[in-house]
Amino acid sequence: MIILGIETSCDETAAAVVADGSQVLSSVISSQVEAHGPYGGVVPELASRQHLENILPVVELALVEAGLGLDQVDALAVTRGPGLMGALLVGLSLAKALALGLNKPLVGVDHVQAHVAAAFLEPPYPQPPLIALIVSGGHTSLVRLEAWPGEFQLLGRTLDDAAGEAFDKVGKLLGLAYPAGPVIDRLAASGTDILNFPRPMMDGSFNFSFSGLKTAVLNYVKTHRIQEPGRDLEEGQTSLADVCASFQEAAVEVLVKKTISCAKDQKVDNIVLAGGVAANGRLRQLLKQEAERAGMELIAPSLALCTDNAAMVASLGFHLLESGAKLETGPGSDWGLDAVSRLNIGQAGPNHE
Ligand code: KG4
Ligand code: ZN
Repeated sequence: MIILGIETSCDETAAAVVADGSQVLSSVISSQVEAHGPYGGVVPELASRQHLENILPVVELALVEAGLGLDQVDALAVTRGPGLMGALLVGLSLAKALALGLNKPLVGVDHVQAHVAAAFLEPPYPQPPLIALIVSGGHTSLVRLEAWPGEFQLLGRTLDDAAGEAFDKVGKLLGLAYPAGPVIDRLAASGTDILNFPRPMMDGSFNFSFSGLKTAVLNYVKTHRIQEPGRDLEEGQTSLADVCASFQEAAVEVLVKKTISCAKDQKVDNIVLAGGVAANGRLRQLLKQEAERAGMELIAPSLALCTDNAAMVASLGFHLLESGAKLETGPGSDWGLDAVSRLNIGQAGPNHE
């Protein structure tokens, strides 16, 4: 079954063509990073306008790269939430129009669940029951999955900032470009964890909190001279790489320890790492090492599939269609599929809020 996936929930306009839920025939991503960069974060109105400009060329390119015409698409999948309302509506409106014009089924998917679907795009495929650590710019959650696709049982979540948000905010404090996650990852590789920032919420719960860590970095930055990005280290300054490594190590250590103890608690030995922060080199390395030590298997999607893309949307769409998801939109339905800015994982099934 050929699925055309469409993703416009935040600042990437993406379309992908995926065969049978696992063979990625094309995956096109148009990033808006340059447009939002000067503002230090995503500007919702600007995101909607950029999606409007980019969506048709992105969909066309995805079809060209897959070597297929629209008439060869069997079904469509689109992100319905969570995300920026105006941004979501661009993808959803196009997906509805295409489904109506082609008389094909359209399935709306949860963006956070789609991040987990990325792990099912390439072998080795995860084996439920599993624990998934979902870490992105908007989410940090530990969930349990009995089957795929299936209900997400929420076991832990962040009480304040999401992990990616913490990377981006700390990056801003250090004068790094948005989004700072990948930049901190790169800089930290040549630094050392010497600053002993706090490891928050190591209280035995599976919830997270990153605001205290962010404040600790802020206090350090306010009271010390830090090397400026792109400049040589001066006398009396702390190296930027060491600040990045110290922050990253604290954040990663908490994510890894909680994930492993959650899996132990749940008596589950399969772990999936998903979401944009899953691209972090140190997080992948430490989680793999600790999973192996505990006799568990870690599956993390390849880097390009961790950050926002539409292949993960098409993959989840395929699995939902295969498992007989009720369609709110498509032939024979009432076309009631709507965008939802907030979808609570763990309370949301595949097709309801
Ligand atoms: O999943 P994603 O692409 O979009 C959301 O759904 O939020 O995640 C984006 C987040 C950003 O906060 C970005 O800084 C972070 O993922 N990120 C990283 C890395 N690559 C992306 N954080 C740490 N290390 C990375 N290599
Ligand atoms: Zn995402």
